[in-house]
Amino acid sequence: MTPHPPPPVNYLRLSITDRCNLRCLYCLPAGEFDKLPSREILSYEEFLRLAQVAAAVGLQKIRVTGGEPLVRQGVVEFLRRLTRVPGVAKVCLTTNGVLLPDLAADIHAAGVRHLNLSLDTLDAGRYAALTGGDHLPRVLAGLERALRLGFQPLKLNCVVLQGINDQELLEIARLAKDDPLEVRFIEFMPLAAPERWQAHFLPMAEVRARLAALGPLIPVAADPTAGPARLYQPPGFRGRLGFISPVSSHHCPTCNRLRLTAAGRLRPCLFSAEEVDVKGPLRRGATDAELAQLLIGAARLKSRRPCPPGSALPAGSRAMRSIGG
Ligand code: 5AD
Ligand code: SF4
Repeated sequence: MTPHPPPPVNYLRLSITDRCNLRCLYCLPAGEFDKLPSREILSYEEFLRLAQVAAAVGLQKIRVTGGEPLVRQGVVEFLRRLTRVPGVAKVCLTTNGVLLPDLAADIHAAGVRHLNLSLDTLDAGRYAALTGGDHLPRVLAGLERALRLGFQPLKLNCVVLQGINDQELLEIARLAKDDPLEVRFIEFMPLAAPERWQAHFLPMAEVRARLAALGPLIPVAADPTAGPARLYQPPGFRGRLGFISPVSSHHCPTCNRLRLTAAGRLRPCLFSAEEVDVKGPLRRGATDAELAQLLIGAARLKSRRPCPPGSALPAGSRAMRSIGG
């Protein structure tokens, strides 16, 4: 069998902060963790410079993540400038939605159209237990507002947790029935706290079995810069369902993304501790051509490393908040 050529790396995720206003069970390490001193976090100017260089070497889709990106001061103005960087074709935002009721209109006006919102439960008490914050009403209000403003695509991320939200999967899926939403079920990855993973992991095959009541799921083709979700449309649904199985079927052969951490390190793969420092060169006055070489080099590292076996524990485990989801 001839190996497939690696897909073009065309998607860059920027983690603009390691701070967050929630403490999700699946994200937080079990013990204490250190926050980066603010001088270690890239400035907006630095992110914009790198975005411009990245777009010029083909990374034309950019997702802004965190931590929680909306807690960083000045984020709306940053998004506005990012959407105007020459060569950047799409700017997407991932948020937990807590600040969305206040910021959705400004984010839309800034030119962002692609929104991913974390929503793991529709039960207020369970939401508070899972995230450490009593904010479900705000998130749902943010979702309403985002729908009204017409963000498209508008995706809901639901990390499936056995014994926590697995009784709600049908109800959560039905959010996509009447609204043009993509509800994405995501396997819990053992990135932060392996013992929690042991207790709460549920494989995607089981998730699909629990959704049998929706009827046959008709596959929908994904666009070429799309992520690893397999998409389906149940009968009578306006929206779609996505299934993301990073644990039971790894995505490496089709992975098209690079991550830039808040501390200015390129991360070719979530499942490897390997990182390429760009902040140092950037602050020492590297030219655009030198920065471009670092990005291209990091993209090459992706295609050279072997894929971890399906259920491997990632090396150098770190909370998603420090890597950028
Ligand atoms: N497993 C799966 N997804 C995770 N996320 C964060 N931590 C994990 C994890 N351990 C994803 C969720 C969340 C987004 C910010 O990052 O989808 O919505
Ligand atoms: Fe914050 Fe997102 Fe981590 Fe939850 S998953 S604690 S919202 S960074």
